[in-house]
Amino acid sequence: MTILVTGVRGQVGSAVLRALIDAGQEVRAASRRPGDAAPVEGARTVRFDQSDPQTLPDALAGVHKVFLYAEPEGIEEFTAAARKAGVEHVVLLSSLSADSGHDDSPIARAHLTVERALDASGIDRTFVRPGGFSSNALQWAGPIRAARRLRLAYPQAHSEPIHERDMAEVSVRALLDDAHRGATFSITGPESLSQQRQVELISDALGEPVEVERISAQEYRAELLNHLPAPIADTVISYQAGQDGTPQPTRDDVRVVLGRPATGFAQWAADHAADFR
Ligand SMILES: NC(=O)c1ccc[n+]([C@@H]2O[C@H](COP(=O)([O-])OP(=O)(O)OC[C@H]3O[C@@H](n4cnc5c(N)ncnc54)[C@H](OP(=O)(O)O)[C@@H]3O)[C@@H](O)[C@H]2O)c1
Repeated sequence: MTILVTGVRGQVGSAVLRALIDAGQEVRAASRRPGDAAPVEGARTVRFDQSDPQTLPDALAGVHKVFLYAEPEGIEEFTAAARKAGVEHVVLLSSLSADSGHDDSPIARAHLTVERALDASGIDRTFVRPGGFSSNALQWAGPIRAARRLRLAYPQAHSEPIHERDMAEVSVRALLDDAHRGATFSITGPESLSQQRQVELISDALGEPVEVERISAQEYRAELLNHLPAPIADTVISYQAGQDGTPQPTRDDVRVVLGRPATGFAQWAADHAADFR
């Protein structure tokens, strides 16, 4: 059985690839730029760019299962090529936003588009819907490294950050256990934390204080636009404003699937302390 892992330069994709190889599975590593992906012993690397349909037949030939990122562009071409290649099961890294009832948000819409295309394809699917990633905090690494100081518009905005390792482990279990075909797993970290508290836990992992400066939403938006398109920056700001001072509910599917609690943010910060040093 061959499993195609897309997005192997991505954080979750790379962790899924490693975990499958450790489990002795036959894997194919796919990336839009396979030359830039770290070579992985035991995995053939192929070019896979969902927005370039010519790359799909070769990447999918002989593949039984796929770990897929939720890219709306080219999803219909992907499902057609996957059906033709005889793919049986796709595990999609989706988003809890698809469960939020906010079809008007561009993030929710993008994930729902991909989920609906997979549902219509007739291929078995499992949706892994994480909430906010712990690794979103890596966007703070530059200013924390440079000055131990961070500018935030909503330091009291809450999320339930989830470790990339938990997302990868749930995805791998979904790929390897056929009982999970057709399931939708909603996964979050074990607790709701404000951004301020996340910074404190990073500071603990560093062993040094990190100062948080509160800035206006307009200043924050201007900073986000340095690395995000405007509709996504606006969605991020609207999420944070909506979660300002409001603890978010956690979801328990990490425990359901893995039989252990989700990993806390303090552990994530310890695992990534070097990124902030
Ligand atoms: N950040 C959050 O809080 C959050 C919350 C819920 C869900 N999510 C979901 O998780 C994703 C981010 O996961 P991550 O942190 O692992 O991302 P990441 O490190 O940014 O990697 C995303 C990977 O997706 C692959 N990709 C992008 N466009 C593609 C295309 N056209 N064809 C094939 N592959 C493509 C790329 O792999 P290659 O470069 O190797 O081709 C890329 O490395 C988001 O896009 C979203 O769907 C995020």
